[in-house]
Amino acid sequence: MTDGPLRIIGWGLGAVGQEMITTIIDHRPDLQIVGARVYSPDKDGVDIGTLVGRDPIGVTASTDTDAILALDADCVLYTPRHPRIDDVCALLAGGKNVATTAFLFHPRRIASADADRVLAAARDGGATVHGSGLNPGNLSGVLPLALSGMSRTIDKVTLQERADWSVYESTSITFDVMGFGQPVEAIGPTTSESLALTSSLFCEQVWFIADELHAGIDEVTTRVEAVPAVADHQIFDRLLRAGTTAGQRWTWSGRRNGETLVEIEALWTVGGEYPAHWPTPEHGWTLTVEGDPSMRTHFFSLASFTRAAGIEEHVRSASVATAMQVLNAVPAICAAPPGVATMADLPPVRSHVGFGNRPR
Ligand SMILES: NC(=O)c1ccc[n+]([C@@H]2O[C@H](COP(=O)([O-])OP(=O)(O)OC[C@H]3O[C@@H](n4cnc5c(N)ncnc54)[C@H](OP(=O)(O)O)[C@@H]3O)[C@@H](O)[C@H]2O)c1
Repeated sequence: MTDGPLRIIGWGLGAVGQEMITTIIDHRPDLQIVGARVYSPDKDGVDIGTLVGRDPIGVTASTDTDAILALDADCVLYTPRHPRIDDVCALLAGGKNVATTAFLFHPRRIASADADRVLAAARDGGATVHGSGLNPGNLSGVLPLALSGMSRTIDKVTLQERADWSVYESTSITFDVMGFGQPVEAIGPTTSESLALTSSLFCEQVWFIADELHAGIDEVTTRVEAVPAVADHQIFDRLLRAGTTAGQRWTWSGRRNGETLVEIEALWTVGGEYPAHWPTPEHGWTLTVEGDPSMRTHFFSLASFTRAAGIEEHVRSASVATAMQVLNAVPAICAAPPGVATMADLPPVRSHVGFGNRPR
């Protein structure tokens, strides 16, 4: 590590990656952008500042993975739509720390061959990888552990995520990645590569909570119920047809001898129909710890609770939260010993800028 600013590469400048880069440009003189990996050919060679709606910074983005790997950098903000273990291993082996919102939230519980490769690459390069975000991330990793500090004993931990994705303008994510608008039979933990990845990430999170809180579970099971739309719905540029998937209820249950001790449940809809037989937590995230004492907290992010903001800005707040949880962790990741630094390993991550009134 150098004495000056930490040298940063952005990898995937989408909704989340852009929030990280604009934050560095606007607020973080302790971080210096030295490169960016992009995918769209029309972004190749374009100044990174320009790509995120800021003045040029004199550093261009590239679609060339080898050129990015050849850069000197302390940390890579790894936020592509489709993450690859190979990319992360190459970065780690080259001595670059990796901070990601995409996967590797609890690498002890991924396929052992992949976990071994990540650990070997980190060891060889003397680098560290950290995965976090909103959920998976703070709400399913940091917050349960923080609440558990007030527990004498715990019987069950449940996190419910209720979201109406109709407001989400990236219909390529809701329709192509998440499978809304597809036949209900197409929705399952193994029916597509993207759903398999999504499901495996939440299984990993259930293991994380269970492992960190000594639940001693022996399995994580996955249940999914896809519900068809009653009527057609226009969702931005896509038509969700009646009879195709408009609701998905996923339940990932961490069980010990058949008893569920840790559960993450997603209640996702598009089109505004809500199945009458589903549970009705408030929109957002509800975390319940049953035990001594029992505790419940509800999380919801908006652009503001006081000033007027458009729906687009409100929706963006979730990307900001995801991005900041990981960007704020960068100095701690760079200072951590080589290997994996999970949300339980790093010191509490807090806002680097905060109110912005540091003593001069
Ligand atoms: N942990 C959490 O709470 C949380 C929350 C939200 C998102 N996420 C994850 O964070 C990552 C970034 O999310 P996002 O909303 O920023 O995603 P996004 O906007 O959909 O995509 C990010 C970037 O991925 C790039 N991309 C295009 N084709 C690709 C390909 N074939 N392989 C890999 N990347 C490709 C695109 O680059 P170009 O612009 O150059 O085409 C795009 O800008 C995703 O993995 C997402 O699942 C995590």
